Amino acid sequence: MPRRHHMPSRFALAATLAAYLAWRMWTARTGSKYQPASPRAVRRMLQLADVRPGETLVDLGSGDGRIVRLAARDHGAHAIGVEIDPLRVWLARLRAWAAGVSPQVRIIRGDLFDADLTGADVVTVFLTQAANARLEPKLVRELAPGSRVVSYRHTFSNLSLYAEDSRLGVRAYVLAGPSETSPGPLPRGGRGPAS
Ligand SMILES: C[S@@+](CC[C@H](N)C(=O)[O-])C[C@H]1O[C@@H](n2cnc3c(N)ncnc32)[C@H](O)[C@@H]1O
Repeated sequence: MPRRHHMPSRFALAATLAAYLAWRMWTARTGSKYQPASPRAVRRMLQLADVRPGETLVDLGSGDGRIVRLAARDHGAHAIGVEIDPLRVWLARLRAWAAGVSPQVRIIRGDLFDADLTGADVVTVFLTQAANARLEPKLVRELAPGSRVVSYRHTFSNLSLYAEDSRLGVRAYVLAGPSETSPGPLPRGGRGPAS
């Protein structure tokens, strides 16, 4: 008889575990599972993007909002995060409020592949190689020439690379104008602003 008392708690544990795994697999399927960029990588992404006060930065798949918070606090940007996971959306909003940057930060709950990117000066991503490949035509279609795209860990094959930190895995690209061509490959090890 005492064994019966253990049944509901075991069931609850298994159900919680299954729900957690389903939740993780869901975001992995939508674009990329959650994994935060290191504080060092975030600083480097914003530095290579050369984010300036008043510019609009969009982080696609914004997680806990660490990139948008720092872009607003340290660079004076209007920072927008797009995140599919409602729990992380609320966590990011709460953390922006706690950091005192709510007026400059907006977290949109939605699919990054549907986000309107017109007007963004800088787009940051930490996704997967497959998600970057799927996203690339949208970036080319919607971003104005001169906009910057910074990717952590994964590459874009048709955007013009202008700076990289190969040790940290941060790459910065610029959207070329209609008549411009790629500046060509960078020296090994990566160069760029304050590399
Ligand atoms: C690797 S994490 C990066 C989080 C944050 N940008 C950072 O660098 O710390 C990827 C994030 O993208 C979100 N994500 C995955 N697919 C998405 C989609 N289709 N639309 C919006 N967000 C998505 C995940 O929920 C996760 O929070």
